[in-house]
Amino acid sequence: MRWRSFLLLPWMLAMLSACGGAMTAPSPTVTIAIYRDPAVPIPARVEDLLQRMTLAEKIGQMTLIEKNSLTADQVRDLFIGGVLSGGGGYPATDNSPAAWAEMVNTFQHAALSTRLGIPIIYGADGVHGHNNLYGAVIFPHNIGLGAANNPVLVEQIGRATATEMAATGVFWNYAPGVMVVRDVRWGRTYEGYAERPDHVATLAAAFVRGLQAPDIAAPNRVIGTPKHYLGDGGTAWGSSTTENYQLDQGETMGDEAILRAVHLPPYRATIAAGAQVIMASYSSWNGQKMHASSYWLSDVLKQELGFSGFVVSDWAAIDQIDPNYDRAVITAINAGIDMNMVPYDARRFINALTRAVEAGAVSEERINDAVRRILTVKFAMGLFEQPFAQTNLLPQIGSTMHRELARTAVAESLVLLKNEQQLLPLTKDIRHLYIGGQAANDLGIQAGGWTIEWQGRVGSIIPGTTILAGIQAAVSPQTVVEYNEHGRFTGDPGAADAVCIAVVGELPYAEGRGDSASLSLPINEQRVLYRMEETCARLVVVLIAGRPLIVTDSLPRWDALVVAWLPGSEGAGVADVLFGDRPFRGRLPVTWPRSLDQLPLGSGNGEPLFPYGFGLTP
Ligand code: BGC
Ligand code: BGC
Repeated sequence: MRWRSFLLLPWMLAMLSACGGAMTAPSPTVTIAIYRDPAVPIPARVEDLLQRMTLAEKIGQMTLIEKNSLTADQVRDLFIGGVLSGGGGYPATDNSPAAWAEMVNTFQHAALSTRLGIPIIYGADGVHGHNNLYGAVIFPHNIGLGAANNPVLVEQIGRATATEMAATGVFWNYAPGVMVVRDVRWGRTYEGYAERPDHVATLAAAFVRGLQAPDIAAPNRVIGTPKHYLGDGGTAWGSSTTENYQLDQGETMGDEAILRAVHLPPYRATIAAGAQVIMASYSSWNGQKMHASSYWLSDVLKQELGFSGFVVSDWAAIDQIDPNYDRAVITAINAGIDMNMVPYDARRFINALTRAVEAGAVSEERINDAVRRILTVKFAMGLFEQPFAQTNLLPQIGSTMHRELARTAVAESLVLLKNEQQLLPLTKDIRHLYIGGQAANDLGIQAGGWTIEWQGRVGSIIPGTTILAGIQAAVSPQTVVEYNEHGRFTGDPGAADAVCIAVVGELPYAEGRGDSASLSLPINEQRVLYRMEETCARLVVVLIAGRPLIVTDSLPRWDALVVAWLPGSEGAGVADVLFGDRPFRGRLPVTWPRSLDQLPLGSGNGEPLFPYGFGLTP
């Protein structure tokens, strides 16, 4: 039984005295509003609060604003319900845990100083750890976890991520991505676990459980947001209308049966696991934006699946519904969007929705339903009782324990696709090791997109262990390791006692900017490979990539091929497996195409290079 007895928290006291003016020290008999009493059942708290709220306060709750777009005072004046950090949304001056906690708490204080004192919920994309925060442990991107396919591990990662986020007051995570990826040319392939619905469903549910453990109202919990509903992983090449995107935000292929069979199962599973929020998808189906679909948002998600939490829009996604913003807002809210992620102009949304309600285009009933859903989640999370950053958890950010967990995840995610003459694992007392490729020595590349910046960035952008450092630490003191990013060596990589390791990869990208027509390595990386193929007696290729690349023609020139996906901050996990401290156990979570004409999945055109589920065990 949880401790439930009533007490006045310090900020309540502050508020009471602020409102009360002449009030003396509160006695235990002070009567307070029903909604503030944690002993009252949640539905009664919600109704009590709802009937006290003005239309402006309600619409404020439905507004989620990017933190750079307004001040704490405006959060207070507009009764804002949520604030977010987008990709790269760290505190302007200092990307440290303490600065994050202070930034979030400042917004929270402002929200709590309103008439009703409804806490904001602060959100960010913690898609592989608390990834906008410098010093956070960066876990492998989901595709690597799909290869590891270990729900216990994913649950632990959820827990560790939640702990690091809760320490900074970010109690809302825009994760897990539950996309069922059908075309690996998509720039969001790595945000998804796999190409099969059941595979995605199992791991996504584990992640949600981990985030929200041990209890949704525990101070160290973070709520998840399965995204993007529905069909984001199934869009057609060339169907996007955003920037120069191809697949991302495009039109989902297939009839309703396909949407239900392929894309819906992870939502069922994560709702069953306790998901409280679901993010709608930019993508369309049958020519209609998902944000405009009352069928999918209301009839299917809320009615049929019984989802009782709230639906959040994606970043400015409502704007895409209709060039007339008022019409776009009316359509989206009526379709079932409960909270709007408005990155730039909160007032514009608030004014549009206010006009819509006054004109009767959106009913008060719909507004009440949305606000009821949002408040229910806030009460269920214990946000009214625990609104501030759990700074007692700050020491756990980047902790050894979390780094060890990430290292294990890296090791479990590696997939061995080729291993001539059982070259792997290597012995630690190998005489000469020649290592090439920029990705061997670059934390930004090994972490990928959604790391510090939205698109990620090449370079030493996070603390951690590079793959090269991991290898250097693993080999015997007698081993001579020569590293050259271009693959130009002074020693003789062709010698009988030498082994070469090329660590080559994609450069960081995110979302539609990563949509790739060619699925090829950057030209520099290809040059490194040519050079090493020419000069090395034995060549191990370690691929750092968010998805399969087309390697069909090169593969015969490599003795071994290891896919390391986007491993994150703990590169030592790669060496653990290369040198046999841990076994290869990853399996392909997506089909590896032989050629581009095998995409999207199911296009036929012969056997893939490697099927789903492939992975050697030496
Ligand atoms: C992405 C979402 C993300 C949001 C906030 C959007 O562009 O599609 O996945 O949660 O931005 O960063
Ligand atoms: C933000 C991301 C967001 C993207 C959408 C970026 O500026 O940082 O969070 O997903 O815009 O286009």
